[in-house]
Amino acid sequence: MPALNINCNWKLAVENYCEAYHLPWVHPSLNSYSRLEDHYNIIFDQFAGQGSHAYNLSDVAGTHLPIFPSWPQDRLRTAEYVAFFPNVLLGIQADHAFAMMLEPIAPGKTVEHLRLFYVGDEALDSRFEAARDAVMQSWRVVFAEDIASVEGMQKGRHSPGYGGGAFSPEMDLPTHFFHQWAARQLLACAQSV
Ligand SMILES: [Fe+2]
Repeated sequence: MPALNINCNWKLAVENYCEAYHLPWVHPSLNSYSRLEDHYNIIFDQFAGQGSHAYNLSDVAGTHLPIFPSWPQDRLRTAEYVAFFPNVLLGIQADHAFAMMLEPIAPGKTVEHLRLFYVGDEALDSRFEAARDAVMQSWRVVFAEDIASVEGMQKGRHSPGYGGGAFSPEMDLPTHFFHQWAARQLLACAQSV
């Protein structure tokens, strides 16, 4: 997938990745096979984000790719999406994973580099080509949908009506965790100067 040039600060891409409540409005197709109400928060040390108990693209798209050998059989629909601080967005499902590296170019510009990974050489077989294409297309749509959101967030930061925003005590816990982490890094840099 080609790199995506985004007009936003890299931290807004992380912030957007850490919460799931934009799914119904920004990602209606994703929300059809990984619904908002099936998500849970993930917060752990150096990463934070969302998990889903009910990721089921394979049912929607008819895709059946090889799965990770040690993946728990009772969690085949579990998927997790975490921002590994500072700038890598990870996603893992039973049959594929992806990593998006955020490259800060300027305070308001970021380049997103995406790599998609399947399970074993078998997954590269031609009989799985349609399944791989369905997975790639699904993420291509999702990441394209996020561009308008994060660029809108960037513009919003410059609005005279922007007053700092508010965190949801329920749904913004991973986002708040990231902000605290980022603030600690900035304070440590400032104190070392
Ligand atoms: Fe999104």
